[in-house]
Amino acid sequence: MKSNLGVFGLGVMGKSIALNILNHGYTISVYNRETEYTKSFSELTQGKPVKSCFNVEEFINSLEMPRKVLLMVTAGEAVDKVIEGILPYLEQGDIVLDGGNSYFKDTIRRYNYLKGKEINFLGVGISGGEQGALFGPSIMPSGNKEAYQKVQKILEDISAKAEDGKACCSYVGESGSGHYVKMVHNGIEYADIQIICEAYSFMKDGLKLSIEEIQETFCEWNKGKLQSYLIKITSEILLKKDEFTNNYLIDMILDKAEQKGTGKWTSIEGFDIGTPIPTIVASVEARYLSSKKEERIQASKILTFDVGGGHYNKKETLKALENAIYAAKICCYAQGFELLKDAANLYDWNLDFGSIAMLWREGCIIRANFLNEIKEAFDEENNNLILTNKFYGKIIEYQPDLRSTLIKMIECGIYIPAFTSALQYLDGYRSEITSANLLQAQRDYFGAHTYQRIDRKGTFHTIWE
Ligand code: 6PG
Repeated sequence: MKSNLGVFGLGVMGKSIALNILNHGYTISVYNRETEYTKSFSELTQGKPVKSCFNVEEFINSLEMPRKVLLMVTAGEAVDKVIEGILPYLEQGDIVLDGGNSYFKDTIRRYNYLKGKEINFLGVGISGGEQGALFGPSIMPSGNKEAYQKVQKILEDISAKAEDGKACCSYVGESGSGHYVKMVHNGIEYADIQIICEAYSFMKDGLKLSIEEIQETFCEWNKGKLQSYLIKITSEILLKKDEFTNNYLIDMILDKAEQKGTGKWTSIEGFDIGTPIPTIVASVEARYLSSKKEERIQASKILTFDVGGGHYNKKETLKALENAIYAAKICCYAQGFELLKDAANLYDWNLDFGSIAMLWREGCIIRANFLNEIKEAFDEENNNLILTNKFYGKIIEYQPDLRSTLIKMIECGIYIPAFTSALQYLDGYRSEITSANLLQAQRDYFGAHTYQRIDRKGTFHTIWE
């Protein structure tokens, strides 16, 4: 009996996905370069339909035709090496799925390379961390559609299900589009996280709330329009006690943010294709600034001015903060979807933004009720989210609270790059006239770079001096 699918790589994510597939009644083969991983998986799954393989040829030959091989290896060079390793044993029509966080340009390259060898390559964005992988992740697959249809049932079965029972997995588009959508998901994830962190900072250092009060506020917010996985885990994190000191653990964690690079990829892509995504960029930069801890300590001793602030009505300020977070989130999701829109045009992908919002309703890190509304917004019209019928009224309603909250945060000296960039995106995007006329004049003055006029066609240059 041949296995339905093979999982190559049994690290945290590979192991969880393999168990998830197994739990849905499929037969699998597994392989890992370090044999201890394979052995321990074999022990864990005794009595289940698993073939634990210790060489690549045996692994590939144990799969039913067309062979389906899911790669769960660290993104980067390792993926290329694994592909080269399995290639001699694959045949025309076999399907290789890359379930890692691969860079979409690598996925496009691999897709074309394997297409030339008549092997199907699917780039499969998977979100949800270890728990998601085990119990149902959000899955963003792309590549040849017919090949996708051959693995569709397995991927849908193992994916998260939204409240209406629909699978959070559907075909995204050609080539590297699945990993692109996953990359943008991560960019939004960075921004969403940063917005929450800035709200926490303001409550702690601006409003001087106790950790219990902040925790209750997040709990309350999770029952309303901000309901989301990230708000929920924040409320759970805040009351966790430290096993060493019995303080709250959050107060014992060093404030230096790390990153694996997907937010940086999103930011670079925004620059490359000319789409403004300032809240995502600001969130990546905030991580870099946070990591300069030693310099910040030094600066805090020198730049010791009193910033004042802090005497606000707690109830009103928290209500406004909730609205401000909501408005900032809309602006940040708008940026992510605008990047997807520009990418779809540039790379010639037929992306359905409503379906992408559906994919993110469950299983992934940015899952939230609010994604149902985003789906409805895109079903009605293909426009910038902040201009859609569904959201423009909310922006108009909440923007005064966003503005007044930001003023308070600035008065208190809180570092709020995500919030400010979100408001700046809004104000920039709705500006009929910007100051770029002056900018163009300056470029023409110092470099004869020319400019266009508002009243006649053509390119103009002026002798300014
Ligand atoms: C997911 C996550 C995941 C990501 C981590 C950490 O969707 O499951 O986005 O893919 O790797 O969240 O990312 P950073 O280390 O860059 O913060």
